[in-house]
Amino acid sequence: MTKIRIAIQKSGRLNEESLQILKDCGISIDNGKDQLKASSRNFPMEVFYLRNGDIPQYLRDGVVDIAIIGENVLIEKGEDISIAEKLGFSKCKVSLAVPKSFKYNSVKDFEGKRIATSYPNTVINYLKEKGVEADLHIISGSVEIAPNIGLADAICDIVSSGSTLFKNNLKEVEVMLTSEAVLAVSPKISEERKELLAKLQFRIQSVLRARG
Ligand code: PRP
Ligand code: MG
Repeated sequence: MTKIRIAIQKSGRLNEESLQILKDCGISIDNGKDQLKASSRNFPMEVFYLRNGDIPQYLRDGVVDIAIIGENVLIEKGEDISIAEKLGFSKCKVSLAVPKSFKYNSVKDFEGKRIATSYPNTVINYLKEKGVEADLHIISGSVEIAPNIGLADAICDIVSSGSTLFKNNLKEVEVMLTSEAVLAVSPKISEERKELLAKLQFRIQSVLRARG
């Protein structure tokens, strides 16, 4: 039997709510996070638990058919991948932040500054549009520590509650984009699996309507 292959975040903020929306769609997944692959008992679906940043490439290659992923990750490295549905959870911003003591006037203040980020394409595109050139330092996590250890003058990262910025004495000065979890689709999905996707989307839409 053909199954639709879905990628969800292995660990992190999207993981729980991604499993919850499947559950609300009446899809039971057999095992938890310890295994990297799981199947559903009552829907033709296989679940792959993957690293967020790897998911766009898996979609592009057609190794998975669909994924629940942050829109911000697609904007950073999957602009070619289409979105079937916005899912309304894991809302966040991708923002530029500077130390609280920095007297910030405008985006021009980033000219020549060192910016630490895990979202280089997003930052470069944003600053390019504003005619600003900065020096990027690409790091994969704990970005907010960078100004405190002298690695950078500013950072660009996800802001949700704002508490990570606050704890690191930073202030948000530019919101580059807003994001939420989305259902993304591989450009290589087969016709047969498109039918399964349509069934899933139908259920997701009624769950989202009920959530209001
Ligand atoms: C994420 C993100 C921010 C923080 C934002 O980091 O990179 O640092 O959450 O959330 P907040 O505004 O509610 O504080 P995460 O804790 O997932 O760890 P990582 O950066 O090491 O991946
Ligand atoms: Mg972080």
